[in-house]
Amino acid sequence: MKFFIDTCNLDQIKEAMDMGVLDGVTTNPSLAAKETMPYRKLLEEICKIVPGPVSAEVISTEHKAMIAESDELIKIADNIVIKIPTIAEGLKAVKTLADRKIPVNSTLVFSASQALLVAKAGAAYVSPFIGRLDDISTSGMELIEQIVTIYANYQFKTEVLVASVRHPMHVVESALIGADVCTMPLSVIHQLIKHPLTDIGLEKFLSDYKNSQANK
Ligand code: E4P
Repeated sequence: MKFFIDTCNLDQIKEAMDMGVLDGVTTNPSLAAKETMPYRKLLEEICKIVPGPVSAEVISTEHKAMIAESDELIKIADNIVIKIPTIAEGLKAVKTLADRKIPVNSTLVFSASQALLVAKAGAAYVSPFIGRLDDISTSGMELIEQIVTIYANYQFKTEVLVASVRHPMHVVESALIGADVCTMPLSVIHQLIKHPLTDIGLEKFLSDYKNSQANK
């Protein structure tokens, strides 16, 4: 499973990159709003740090305007993926961009029916927001199972990019189901590595070594 980081923060992206587990980046307008640099400049900097796919989201909601925006975004770097909201106009944009061989990440997906449509339109990635579903007492993980099954049934090439990830079990369960990608905040990457028995074990190894070697 590929690991993407879900942020526009350059320091966090560098940190995840240095950990050696980062395959790509997802961004969105709300994440860009947290940073001081303009969105386009952030994307330019992110693409210099990460060679893998970097999702850049359009803010237009009408087909023609989405395509015009995408035309500008793809000039940033070869690894830009255009993030399109899953609405009727967005679906048309997915088809137009896919026909031009431009990779699209269909975002704000909350149902299997939406996932089926964006795959038919040719999206490179589908982004089901599982945390936001969990927030309203609906199982985000069940949606991942449904999408993985549907895509396997019809050999769709669209990759399942699990988004709105809130904790490490979202990542582990996504991997068990066979999702292609998980995008997560840096905090979740840290949580994935952490285990109290590892910390206790390491502390004991180091103190045993120190104590025993001192008397030799
Ligand atoms: C995915 O591409 C989105 O940027 C993101 O995962 C949304 O997560 P949130 O629900 O934590 O805002």
